[in-house]
Amino acid sequence: MCGIVGYTGPREAGPILMAGLKRLEYRGYDSAGIALVDEAGDLFVEKKAGKLANLETAIADRTPHAALGLAHTRWATHGRPTDLNAHPHQDCTGEITVIHNGIIENFQELRDGLVARGHTLTSDTDTEAVAHLVEEAYAGDLADAVRSALRQLEGAYALAVMHRREVSRLVGARMNVPLIVGLNGEESFIASDVSAILAHTNRVVFLEDGDVADVRPSGVLVTDVNGEPRPRRETVVDWTPEAAEKGGFEHFMLKEIHEQPDALRQSLAGRVGRDGHVHVPEIATLARAIRAATRVELVACGTASYAALVGAAAIQAWTDLPARVTVGSEFRYDPPPLDARTLVIAVTQSGETADTIAPTRLARERGSPIVAITNTVGSAITRETDAVLFLQAGPEIAVAASKTFVTQVTTLVVLAAAIARLRGSMDDAAEAELVAALRTLPAAAARALELNAPRAYDLARRYVNSRGFMFVGRGATYPAALEGALKLKEISYVHAEGYAAGELKHGPISLLDAECPLVAVATRSHTHDKLVSNIMEGRARDARVLAVATEGDDQIGRIADDVCWVPDTHELLSPVLAIVPLQLFAYHVAVARGTDVDQPRNLAKSVTVE
Ligand code: G6P
Repeated sequence: MCGIVGYTGPREAGPILMAGLKRLEYRGYDSAGIALVDEAGDLFVEKKAGKLANLETAIADRTPHAALGLAHTRWATHGRPTDLNAHPHQDCTGEITVIHNGIIENFQELRDGLVARGHTLTSDTDTEAVAHLVEEAYAGDLADAVRSALRQLEGAYALAVMHRREVSRLVGARMNVPLIVGLNGEESFIASDVSAILAHTNRVVFLEDGDVADVRPSGVLVTDVNGEPRPRRETVVDWTPEAAEKGGFEHFMLKEIHEQPDALRQSLAGRVGRDGHVHVPEIATLARAIRAATRVELVACGTASYAALVGAAAIQAWTDLPARVTVGSEFRYDPPPLDARTLVIAVTQSGETADTIAPTRLARERGSPIVAITNTVGSAITRETDAVLFLQAGPEIAVAASKTFVTQVTTLVVLAAAIARLRGSMDDAAEAELVAALRTLPAAAARALELNAPRAYDLARRYVNSRGFMFVGRGATYPAALEGALKLKEISYVHAEGYAAGELKHGPISLLDAECPLVAVATRSHTHDKLVSNIMEGRARDARVLAVATEGDDQIGRIADDVCWVPDTHELLSPVLAIVPLQLFAYHVAVARGTDVDQPRNLAKSVTVE
């Protein structure tokens, strides 16, 4: 996830943009860049890999006078984090400058077309194509040219564009990635979020998907991509700089829970095509090893290990390969059999977890092909493995994982389907059904939030004094039960256990009573009836039942005390939606108990020691 900031107005743009970038650094940073234009139309560009401090040093004492500019902190998606791939990017003429957050899904096709038409592209990024498309369309009006370029783009973007001959104008565009315009009557700003501009104004226009903002120092005109006006109301935000980083949410965790639809969209961009196929080019070099594999070993810790359980289930559902999850701390000292025919998949948000990295080293020594799934470009795991799939979820600040869990699940499911396709064990119809479900998943996650966010507070208050909680699920909902219990215990310090529902009767049922509720993850599945029986066993012990169920499931509606409804989806994707109310529930229980939600006691975001 990148950070964008742009300025047009009477003051010096350079210092304003650099200060804005500093406030956006929390969004991720592997490189940064700035482009400035003075009144004569002279352009200055500097880009540096690494932290923002590198860019600061590079432009110290030589920041030119400028009244217009764009700046960017990058979190690499297409192309390694180098000086060259850092934003801003220019067209062939150097007239047009673009910064971008998001992913242009059809960038390869666009690049090929541009090259065939004689353009020279100098970076590996998807973004640069946009500058050249604007160049092709430019006929004296930047907003018109940007709209024309946008009509050719597929994917997710927040874009800001300037032209060095139009020195009091910025053009912004938003599709599935946040972008705002800040105004104060004399100068205007474009930014990824309010935190970047709060020092200068609290008057903000929040752009919506499909908006194109024609920004002048005196104000903004918003249209759609065809130039039809889209009047947008100005909001006066009453946030402290700290609150602005949290997008107005009280905690990063709540913000990140709400970011899940966007995180899923970004994570799935380019992976699930309209052609009904999954796309995982990262494993192309392992195709032969994957076809020859005889089993799959997944390794992960904490939340990632629960996501891995869904991945293992998907691999077993769609291939003839046995797939097993072992937590890293067990794997490293008591490894499963490993050889060249064992595919190892390591899942880690941070990419730095010592207990997950050690097993990959072991696997490498034994000659196993290894795939990593991580959120962090440049992290240690990326240097230890043969192929890396990035989650593209954006930085997660809260210690307790939320958006990285849902994107780990979807990335693993996509990888499982890609493995099955390579081995010829998944037919077109099954793949197309999965792809269709994945393509609608971000919207379904938004609906799950809409259904549950307003009532999670009341629900949490009703259960907050419970002695403990028993979370249960079956099949794909079992990992969601484990993750729901983990969220609750991590941040609220209330005891919660996750169990396979069928195991209740073999022990933990003795814990159930009026003070220990049963939280049943009972979304639609092939074992739904069995889970209903398990819920009835709990009810018979006076346990209150809080269920997560698929919208329209009257049976669960009748037997549970409280139900959190979520939309229907592919069974193996159900944890992505089922976890949403459980995250919200854990969050509100923690707030009610007054804990430090974003930094719970005794925990760290990244555990680099044993
Ligand atoms: C820590 C965090 C957990 C996380 C686990 C694995 O214990 O507190 O939230 O799930 O590490 O982290 P990773 O970065 O490897 O996914």
